[in-house]
Amino acid sequence: MLCGLWLMIASSCVNRTAVTHPTDEPFRSVYHHSPAANWMNDPNGMFYDEANGVWHLYYQHNPFGTTWGPMHWGHATSKDLLHWEEHPIVLEPDSIGTIFSGSAVIDKDNTAGFGENAIVAVYTQSEVCGQHQSIAYSTDGGSTYVKYEGNPVLKGDVPDFRDPKVIWDSDHWLMTLACGQEIRFYASDNLKDWTFLSSFGEGVGAHGGVWECPELIKLKCENGQTKYVLLVSINPGGLFGGSATQYFVGDWNGKEFKCENPQSKWLDYGNDNYSTFTFHNAPDGRLVALGWMSNWQYAQVLPTVAFRSQNTVARDLFLYLDDEGEYRLGSVPSQETMALRGEETKTLPDAAVVELDLDGKQDALITLSNDRGEKVLMTLDIHRQTFSMDRTASGDCSFSHEFAASTVAPLFIKRDAYHLILFIDHCSIEAFDAEGAWTMTNLVFPSEPYNHIDVQGGKATIYNINF
Ligand code: FRU
Repeated sequence: MLCGLWLMIASSCVNRTAVTHPTDEPFRSVYHHSPAANWMNDPNGMFYDEANGVWHLYYQHNPFGTTWGPMHWGHATSKDLLHWEEHPIVLEPDSIGTIFSGSAVIDKDNTAGFGENAIVAVYTQSEVCGQHQSIAYSTDGGSTYVKYEGNPVLKGDVPDFRDPKVIWDSDHWLMTLACGQEIRFYASDNLKDWTFLSSFGEGVGAHGGVWECPELIKLKCENGQTKYVLLVSINPGGLFGGSATQYFVGDWNGKEFKCENPQSKWLDYGNDNYSTFTFHNAPDGRLVALGWMSNWQYAQVLPTVAFRSQNTVARDLFLYLDDEGEYRLGSVPSQETMALRGEETKTLPDAAVVELDLDGKQDALITLSNDRGEKVLMTLDIHRQTFSMDRTASGDCSFSHEFAASTVAPLFIKRDAYHLILFIDHCSIEAFDAEGAWTMTNLVFPSEPYNHIDVQGGKATIYNINF
């Protein structure tokens, strides 16, 4: 209680002026969202306001420093998923606890009684004795929220009980919640009263750490089959250690999720894509996702100054069948992200889009380097059918012994030629199979921007960013 009171007083001192996205220090991303100042982790409560064409992004935020602390929901909006405007904090800690991750829905039919089209945020409150789910509503399109007086709406019965992602399931709301190393499903008619349906996860997938940030997604595969994918972030115990997002493909019968394969599949084959969620109400039924572009292994010691962390570029998720006949979740750069590709250029700018055309019969070696001899090595290995990225000599790796690493992705689909897309920004490289079979997201901290790209076994076309 005392702790809650201190947080309320401290929060009222937060600067409430809206600012546009600054590029004020060498590792500040140009076209990735980052907070104007201080700490950020997971993207939260993302939704699309179709009437105004605005994407809303809330995020885990400590406004008092550049490391994790008393969590609030920060707020940013964008019309193109590239330029972001920062807005005042929308949710501050209170006597129930600090504000952890969660989601938001547009309550078109006023099921909760807060008004037609109210935006309802469903989030975790964390305190010393446990974690609970609370709700708040906005009647001004997501700019400000009023906390529901009946909070919390769902009290925790295990220590880790968090990150509610709410979707509409036929005729009621469905909440997916992380509970220790399991996912639980709850149903509600009004977003206030929640009934337990089932749990998922025992004996399934990776269990090297706590399960976090789940989301159940309905997708139609190219073969016409409808499937459900359950995204589950795990930390630690990810693919390359630390944090990563696993997923399971299966069926949802309105009560239970049954997966087809008990082994984890991985959303991204880099070190730095965590807590991925999709936007509620994205246009044309698209599944537009953002992830936190960092890893709990070293997120709090990264060499940025006024702020820490950024989000990935926007990606559209889809379901495909790989060469083994296994369902996989693919990610392609969203059309808004592809709009970044500007004029073709011969020299490598410090923020760029690079398309790689690689021969499917021989290995390819792609090297990004600067005049200081710092480099990132990428290899397409045809025999092993893998793509890898080595950042061990990429620049500053001194802040954490876990940072200097190499990551590897299976190609999943054998092709005659490979077309890859790289999104390069001031401290990140996101590699995509252009058709979305795999992605790899890695942070890098070169002491000067990479100004040279060399490709053996293929060709690179470099584009300035259109920003
Ligand atoms: C994931 C996470 C969530 C939690 C939030 C706290 O990165 O640990 O499970 O809600 O961060 O900031």
